[in-house]
Amino acid sequence: MFAAALIAVLALTLGGCGTAGPNSTLTPTTEFGREIDRLFNILFIGGIIVFVLVEAALLYTVIRYRRREGVPAPKHVHGNTTLEIAWTLIPAVVLAFIAIPTVRSIFRTQDRAIPGALEVEVIGHQWWWEFRYPQYTRQGAGGKIDTLVTANELYLPVGRTANFALKSKDVLHSFWIPQLGGKRDLITNHTNYIWFTPESTAVWNGFCAEYCGTSHANMRLRAFTVTQAEFDKWVANQLSVPGAPAPATPPVAQVAPTTGAQTPTGDVARTPSPVPQAQLATGTVSLEQLPAYALPATPIPANLEISGVTGDVSRGEAIFRTGACIACHTVASVPIARGVLGPNLSHFGSRTTIGAGLYPNDARHLMAWIKDAPSMKPGSLMPAFGRPKIPSGYTDQQIADIAAYLHSLK
Ligand code: CUA
Repeated sequence: MFAAALIAVLALTLGGCGTAGPNSTLTPTTEFGREIDRLFNILFIGGIIVFVLVEAALLYTVIRYRRREGVPAPKHVHGNTTLEIAWTLIPAVVLAFIAIPTVRSIFRTQDRAIPGALEVEVIGHQWWWEFRYPQYTRQGAGGKIDTLVTANELYLPVGRTANFALKSKDVLHSFWIPQLGGKRDLITNHTNYIWFTPESTAVWNGFCAEYCGTSHANMRLRAFTVTQAEFDKWVANQLSVPGAPAPATPPVAQVAPTTGAQTPTGDVARTPSPVPQAQLATGTVSLEQLPAYALPATPIPANLEISGVTGDVSRGEAIFRTGACIACHTVASVPIARGVLGPNLSHFGSRTTIGAGLYPNDARHLMAWIKDAPSMKPGSLMPAFGRPKIPSGYTDQQIADIAAYLHSLK
């Protein structure tokens, strides 16, 4: 029994030491991550050496000087200058050993990003992420400059340093993509910065790492590191207005229609799924391409599921334009939809997840979300819109129409 328990504990402990997990900080893939990892290794190995030496001296002393029958108690002494100097100096040396690499890592990871970096503003909201790319803009209606804005899904080109300006709309949050970089806090009325350079194309899970209220654990993000060509296509698509002529797309250098819009590592790389040509043209990663570790698995609460209805895009658009949606959401192609309280939905259909990474972005989950967001995500500022919770709310058919419209916004 004891042996079995011991084996179980050992297996769990050793299992926890595995570094291959998709959310492991022990397998860094950027210069920022490697700097932290190097410091961690130095301190960890140093700690092991000190532990072994101290425990060895302790065990030796306990055994060598243990009480024996017939041997009188040893003479008590007071004060030993040599010993006292030794146990003052040794910790000082140990502290210096810790301080030098730590301070060096602090200077390196707090340094300014190199000039020419990709600038990304990260704005924390309860409970979702807003991403703005101020270097990518479009001349909007009336000469107004519109910036590329998206939510919960980051696109970063491989090989280009990304410099993140971290801000918060409400409370403290913390930006963390374990294998790329972080954590660093998002603070109201103060901008923090963090930068790193993605090195490989993949899908990464990101998290909020600072308790920020009810749905802190539900404040997730996905980062897609893609080739520069895919990134350019993604930018062109995000800056286009659905329904309006798309801006000229940059020349496409490397598109392999049968291997996916990108070549993510992990599950997807092993089982590449064919990607429709239409999706390749937008440079976006589709839900089908998400590797298992990035696919949300949150169950839909009981009695929320809508089935047996098929939405109609134009009916959905009419409901969206005249409904409450426009008070909180922006959609570039709908001039009166300029709300900023909720995520920008201009290209909602190009995202893989909804609810800040909590559910896959498919009709089933989106309809349940519109029907009763607070039940889907505790504390959600988006109210319920569906019957029967809201007696005058939308019918299941109307919700299906809105969902069809939102999914048409690629
Ligand atoms: Cu945002 Cu925790």
